[in-house]
Amino acid sequence: MNYTVREYTPADETAWLHCRVPAFLNTAYFDDVLRARPSTSAPGLDLVAVDEHDRLVGIIDTSVEGDLATIDTVAVHPDHQHRGIGRRLLEETRSRARAAGASTLDAWTRDDADTLAWYRAMGFAESDHYLHVYANYYTSSGEPGRAVEAPRPGLRPVALFLHAKLADEERLRGEFARVHVCRRFSMAV
Ligand SMILES: CC(C)(COP(=O)(O)OP(=O)(O)OC[C@H]1O[C@@H](n2cnc3c(N)ncnc32)[C@H](O)[C@@H]1OP(=O)(O)O)[C@@H](O)C(=O)NCCC(=O)NCCS
Repeated sequence: MNYTVREYTPADETAWLHCRVPAFLNTAYFDDVLRARPSTSAPGLDLVAVDEHDRLVGIIDTSVEGDLATIDTVAVHPDHQHRGIGRRLLEETRSRARAAGASTLDAWTRDDADTLAWYRAMGFAESDHYLHVYANYYTSSGEPGRAVEAPRPGLRPVALFLHAKLADEERLRGEFARVHVCRRFSMAV
């Protein structure tokens, strides 16, 4: 199948959302579902991959601040993964980020083996680890109580999302069922 990388247009929004949800479904971001696409601030750095019928199969959005370009979203529809689409989206992003004045390209991601393998294969270096912790009453009724020191009267915590230090990983994994190591991947562009 032939794929083309082109700039995102507003007419792509529904297809963009429909690509992102199944791509994230088998990852640590499975419940990060969006109903509208967030807009980014770098013109020309929102790209999509389409098949020969202009059906959207991959997305990559990048914002730029000074000399740092950050990938906000990268996803390839599961039916089209491992065909080089992610690599092509990244290569085009690198050259456009360079043209936009960036010297570094980075991204933050959790602990999915496949995704980590992809970033490493693409030449990114890993740094800056911290934790994403979920405390959920329906996972284990004691979790929210362990996560907040003093709940506000009249408000009972049911689900919380928290950031924590990597050094506390072992202790927090003992207290909460869902803990992710989030890390930065970066490369020179
Ligand atoms: C990560 C993702 C964008 C990669 O896109 P892709 O189109 O499947 O990747 P590519 O086909 O371009 O991979 C290029 C190379 O990366 C490496 N690679 C890709 N997936 C890999 C894996 N699971 N294990 C090891 N290496 C892998 C390989 O070297 C591959 O080259 P090859 O196919 O010639 O062997 C895609 O798999 C995806 O959408 N994942 C789910 C969403 C996600 O996790 N997004 C990032 C959240 S921050």
